[in-house]
Amino acid sequence: MSTHVRTSTADRIADIEIWRPEKKNALTQEMYAAMSDALLRAEADPEVRVVLLHGQPDCFTAGNDLHDFLEVSHGGGVGAPAPRFLDTIAGARKPIVAAVGGVAVGIGTTMLLHCDLVYAASNARFQMPFVPLGLAPEGGSSLLLPMLAGYQRAAEMLILGRPFGAEAALSAGLVNEVVPAERLLAHAREAALAVAALSPESVRITKELLKRPHALAVKERMEEEIRIFGERLVSPEAKAAMGAFFQRKKG
Ligand code: COA
Repeated sequence: MSTHVRTSTADRIADIEIWRPEKKNALTQEMYAAMSDALLRAEADPEVRVVLLHGQPDCFTAGNDLHDFLEVSHGGGVGAPAPRFLDTIAGARKPIVAAVGGVAVGIGTTMLLHCDLVYAASNARFQMPFVPLGLAPEGGSSLLLPMLAGYQRAAEMLILGRPFGAEAALSAGLVNEVVPAERLLAHAREAALAVAALSPESVRITKELLKRPHALAVKERMEEEIRIFGERLVSPEAKAAMGAFFQRKKG
């Protein structure tokens, strides 16, 4: 169990809350492992029909912990905690509802590509700063984002890597709806309850049919991205860019 990931189950909903507010919910190896385990427990629990994934209304997650990235000496492989989490969320058979408020950086945005219903608070700020950090796309984003948002928009988001707001995410197809921050969790929970009230078998079949055409391609692309990401992670540019983040904090 992780102290930074809170899980509970009620009303057929498995609730997963990212909880590391003092570090903007930046994700450590331990947190990825806890989130993967929580997803797998939800898959295996016959009482659970839907997963609700969220942070707090003012913070989803600042993405991978940059300290962890800096400490990685070899980039990690397919079985490492972050890739395992992405593999688990991409392969989930039960529906996942995500509620995103505040920052959703890096994997905080790319994990949403694997969720089924995504609600954003009007204060949400998405960003995939892989290239500015000297890295490369992950989470299948190099394949899924152009499919979702169109090539040019995906290229802008992935190459320039600038932050964008909830309305831009809505028009890019990344989120279903934008709601006031104070309504975010209640709204996402209502959607999760609505899904939980439906026939689980119909929901499961429908998700499987929706995902099937691209499932293999997504898996292969994620593996390729992990390999490239691991190489970029130890590059001098990446080390310098990540080091600069912490230097700026001191300065
Ligand atoms: N990894 C490790 N620590 C992080 C972090 C991350 N990804 N994001 C934020 N933190 C830490 C900060 O170092 C700071 O810690 P401190 O109080 O000990 O100095 C704390 O969380 C609060 O962050 P801060 O930057 O002061 O908050 P902010 O509201 O000014 O900015 C962000 C929020 C998310 C825009 C900014 O923190 C950021 O850009 N983080 C890095 C995001 C990133 O590059 N993620 C990886 C993508 S691949």
